[in-house]
Amino acid sequence: MKIRHLIITAGPTYEPIDPIRVITNRSTGLMGYEIALEAVRRGYHVTLIKGPCGIKPIAGVETIGVESAADMEKAIKKSAKKNSCLIMAAAVSDYKVKAKARKKIKGFSGITLHLVRNKDILASVKKADIGKKIGFALETENLIENARKKLIEKGLDLIVANKSGKKNVPFGSGRKDFVFLERSTAVRYYRKATKKQVASALLDTLKNRVL
Ligand code: CTP
Repeated sequence: MKIRHLIITAGPTYEPIDPIRVITNRSTGLMGYEIALEAVRRGYHVTLIKGPCGIKPIAGVETIGVESAADMEKAIKKSAKKNSCLIMAAAVSDYKVKAKARKKIKGFSGITLHLVRNKDILASVKKADIGKKIGFALETENLIENARKKLIEKGLDLIVANKSGKKNVPFGSGRKDFVFLERSTAVRYYRKATKKQVASALLDTLKNRVL
């Protein structure tokens, strides 16, 4: 089936500790934003599901703001159709606190938080409910090996991997090294590429190879 609809996730998630504090990460949302911008330019119907970040609205893009991973999952599953491709550029928090405090925790220093794992959203979206799935992988070591494991275990059609280190800070703008891995093709390297260029390469791959 031809893919006409892209569900793109962007930014971090907020996992509440109490009404004031959250667990989050350093994602800026720029990668998802660049993909959404290029996708709407190419004529796709785009649903952008964004965690809390400073993404500017994009004309023609249906934008849904969420906070927690659980809300992001709900929004994805509501939007998913047989002709959709899920592009999971969001940096979903791996953990949440087991029980959120209803009131501000006083004397915050020295408390112990009981953390539990968040559900893996990408892995939980069933093949029967969506056309294609694309993921991202951020690694500090064994880039190709770890990314390939995620490609297989999460049932993805493509994974875009990048290494986080002093020489390649993945967050925000600037030129970075990226790797594309698919199940049946050779690994492709994009060196010193902007996120705009990676967005373009991803959508080219979608059109020419994966879909
Ligand atoms: N992802 C997801 N749900 C989660 C965690 C991650 O859907 N709870 C998605 C991310 O959006 C990304 C891909 O899975 O597209 C890989 O995320 P990453 O943070 O690199 O890896 P994890 O699966 O969290 O594994 P690890 O932290 O062990 O590297």
